[in-house]
Amino acid sequence: MRTIHDLHHLLPRPAPNERVVLGLVGAPGAGKSTVAGMIAALDPAAHALVPLDGFHLADRALSGLGLLDRKGAHETFDAHGYAALLTRLRSRPAETVYAPSFERDLEQPLANALAVPSSSTLLVTEGNYLLLDAPGWREARSRTDETWFLDVDPAVRRSRLIDRHIRFGKEPREAEAWVRRVDDPNAALVGATRHRADRVLDLTAWAPA
Ligand SMILES: Nc1ncnc2c1ncn2[C@@H]1O[C@H](COP(=O)(O)OP(=O)(O)O)[C@@H](O)[C@H]1O
Ligand SMILES: [Mg+2]
Repeated sequence: MRTIHDLHHLLPRPAPNERVVLGLVGAPGAGKSTVAGMIAALDPAAHALVPLDGFHLADRALSGLGLLDRKGAHETFDAHGYAALLTRLRSRPAETVYAPSFERDLEQPLANALAVPSSSTLLVTEGNYLLLDAPGWREARSRTDETWFLDVDPAVRRSRLIDRHIRFGKEPREAEAWVRRVDDPNAALVGATRHRADRVLDLTAWAPA
């Protein structure tokens, strides 16, 4: 598995007039968003992307729940809302469906930011918790046709993750501390769901571009 072209032939094919939903899961920094973006770009007219990240609770809601310092953990997402939107997307309604995005600059979700036109026949969704065996997440999983687990050497993944935090404004020490306190436990939880995937892809030797 080295380039996007190696997985082109693995993509689920929709039946006529239907839409398939492909889930990508993996630990933080595994490359889910990168690979999902590449799949979407393979055929922009037919592929649409709705990341789980849009279902982060906003800081306003997290504060009320006392969860602000756990942002990114599974309980800081609206799992049931995500499952409900996947249900609607899967039914491929005649109207355009709008989905929320997560704005990394604001670190907040943004409603109605992503358009999924009726013409999209492959819906790619990606996130950390797609395979959790818990309320909301189980329903979301049942709305996908296939879910792939993206695996990367843990040291490579962790260093990419720290670099990404720094690129989005954290000081290096702050980035390391965040990964240790928040991302590492999340990665362990996500890693434990690997056996539930329909397919496991090792992206350690993957070259984007
Ligand atoms: N194959 C790769 N080679 C080098 N850097 C990569 C590769 N895939 C992803 N990255 C980088 O690693 C970081 C994590 O990737 P990302 O797609 O954001 O992971 P995820 O969405 O799983 O958290 C990003 O900064 C991304 O640009
Ligand atoms: Mg991502």
